[in-house]
Amino acid sequence: ETGCFTYDNGFTATAACRSAITYIDGDAGVLMYRGYPIEQLAKQSNFVEVAYLLMHGELPKQDELAKFEGDITHHTMLHEAFKNFLDGFRHDAHPMAMLMGMVGSMASFYHNNLDYEDPAERRLAAIRLIAKVPTIAAACYRYSIGWPLRYPRNNLEYVTRFLHMMKEVPSEPLELNPVAAKALDLLFILHADHEQNASTSTVRLVGSTGANPYACVAAGVAALWGPAHGGANEAVLKMLGEIGRPENVQSAVDKAKDKESGFRLMGFGHRVYKNFDPRAKIIREMTYKVLDELGVNDPLLDVAIKLEEAALKDEYFIQRKLYPNVDFYSGIIYKALGIPTEMFTVMFAIARTAGWVSHWLEQQADPENKIGRPRQVYTGATERDYVAIGKR
Ligand code: SDX
Repeated sequence: ETGCFTYDNGFTATAACRSAITYIDGDAGVLMYRGYPIEQLAKQSNFVEVAYLLMHGELPKQDELAKFEGDITHHTMLHEAFKNFLDGFRHDAHPMAMLMGMVGSMASFYHNNLDYEDPAERRLAAIRLIAKVPTIAAACYRYSIGWPLRYPRNNLEYVTRFLHMMKEVPSEPLELNPVAAKALDLLFILHADHEQNASTSTVRLVGSTGANPYACVAAGVAALWGPAHGGANEAVLKMLGEIGRPENVQSAVDKAKDKESGFRLMGFGHRVYKNFDPRAKIIREMTYKVLDELGVNDPLLDVAIKLEEAALKDEYFIQRKLYPNVDFYSGIIYKALGIPTEMFTVMFAIARTAGWVSHWLEQQADPENKIGRPRQVYTGATERDYVAIGKR
């Protein structure tokens, strides 16, 4: 009840907030969305239904799900003026830079005279974000490769619609791969929410000031981009590529143990999980299945498996309870789906938008919601008198 945590470095911290959305037990490797174990949702649900669950707190009945899907489908289009933003970016801009800018600019299109005291207006803003972020993400990708934009096709379901907008080749008949859509849907479920991670805490801190939801989610995108957070999936693929072959794995593990090197095994370790990240387990199993179904043989998978084996039996990693996290294997699947490395964190952002807007809604509905104001341990100079410049 006190909400006080004592970290392993002796720091104590009070809980940032109270939330009923996601529960994590880092020691037991438990993750639940609104009380449903992630393993069951991964097996039996789909991303849109999970987004509904995170937002509303209950699994939807058939008609509720149909209405939710209809609401999202109705809001997938972007104002044509969004193209002006894209034309302003360098062609080689990182898609996360474009996503951050474009999501923030949604405040200039959809925010005017909205009354966030009205729960219906708040829900509409959440729906708009879940609906439009994939459209923006696909547009950023196509802009970066010089392809014409694709409008959302409302006869397609959420993930397939995104893949169509992102990958449809202008001069060839549309090929929709059900294996790819199913794999991406599962990755979106696993990335949808994760309690008070850095980007969700950012969304809540910005939301606590009364800023509009588009500004809050743009701040979340910014926080997620960091390689210590969502940017890790892109960094894992780069790291596996640099290791190159299974025989180089041990030297990578040894380098990660040498603090001087500044090198860390990307995709390993976690602020909360000091046991296996349950998502990593599901993604590892899924990696074999997806690559097999797609007939993809990726040598980086062998490197990843050997790296995991070597680290998990190394005293340095065992002592520090460092296990593979959600980012360790996901990039291998994205790569097998033909998604370029620089779009990996964008995939994470599309999924986490469901969690970000759910936390924003929960916070805005809380009558006791106060502005966030983290405190510090002051380590600076004690009081002293000013010295004129001539006497310094
Ligand atoms: C995500 O919070 C969330 O929930 C995030 C997330 C979500 O869904 O939102 O789960 C998604 O961000 C997963 C994490 C992705 N990031 C990475 O994979 C980057 C690589 N991992 C790390 O940089 C690191 O593990 C962090 C950032 C995840 C955690 O960093 P901490 O808090 O500094 O790690 P720690 O305090 O647990 O470290 C304990 C020790 C330290 O060594 P000592 O000072 O005790 O000697 O372990 C070492 C660290 O140097 N260590 C690593 C390591 N991670 C920690 N050593 C080598 N390789 C690593 N990956």
